[in-house]
Amino acid sequence: MVKIAPSILSADFAKLGEEILDVERGGADLIHVDVMDGHFVPNITIGSLIVDAIRPVTKLPLDVHLMIEQPDRYIESFAKAGADYITVHVEACTHLHRTVQLIKSFGVKAGVVLNPATPASLIQPIIEDIDMVLLMTVNPGFGGQKFIKSVLPKIAEVKAMAGKYNQNLEIEIDGGVNEETAKLCIEQGATILVAGSAIYDQEDRHAAIQKIRGK
Ligand code: DX5
Ligand code: ZN
Repeated sequence: MVKIAPSILSADFAKLGEEILDVERGGADLIHVDVMDGHFVPNITIGSLIVDAIRPVTKLPLDVHLMIEQPDRYIESFAKAGADYITVHVEACTHLHRTVQLIKSFGVKAGVVLNPATPASLIQPIIEDIDMVLLMTVNPGFGGQKFIKSVLPKIAEVKAMAGKYNQNLEIEIDGGVNEETAKLCIEQGATILVAGSAIYDQEDRHAAIQKIRGK
C-alpha cells in the first residue's frame, strides 16, 4: 500500500506539535519537512532547530526535504536533529556521491530529488547508493501549487530503473498531490506520496489521508 507523508508546510505553525499528532493519528506513515533557504527556492521556511523540536513529538520517520544550496553544510545538523531521511536536489549538488555518502555516514537514509524539468537519467549513476528518489510534480518553493502532469512518465521511468538496479528504492512524489492526482501517481509506481494542502486544509485529516491513499 502506498505510504502517505503529510507536509507540515501547510500546517498551523502556531500549534505544530498538535498538527503532527493529528496526522499521525490520522494514519500518516512519515512526516515531510520542507526546508527552504531563499536561494535555491524563493521561499524561506524552517531549519534543524524545528526538526529537533518535533523529533520527540512523533514516532513517525521524519522525511527532510532540503531545498537549499550547498546542502553539505547542513546535513550534520539535520542528522543530529533526528532526520530519518534527508533528500537533496540533484540541481543543488556539484558532487552528488559525496553528498549522499555524507548523509549515510550519519546513519540517515539518503534520497535524491529531481525538479519537474530534470530528466530521470541523472539518477542513473547514483541509483544503487540511495534509499529514495523524490520526483517533484511542482517547481519547489510553495505549497498549494498545481500538479504538473507531464512528470507522470518519469515515475514509470524511475520505477523501471529501480526494478533493474535497486528493488528497495522508494519513489516519492511531491507537489499538487490530491485525491485525483494521487491515483495517477500510484498507477505509475509511486510508493510514497507527499501532500500538504490536500491534508492540512481539511478539518478531518484521517479522511483526507484515506482519500489520497485511494481508500
Ligand atoms: C513544495 C514542497 C512540497 C509542498 C507540497 O516546494 O516541497 O512538499 O509542501 O504541498 P502541496 O501538497 O500543497 O502541493
Ligand atoms: Zn517537499
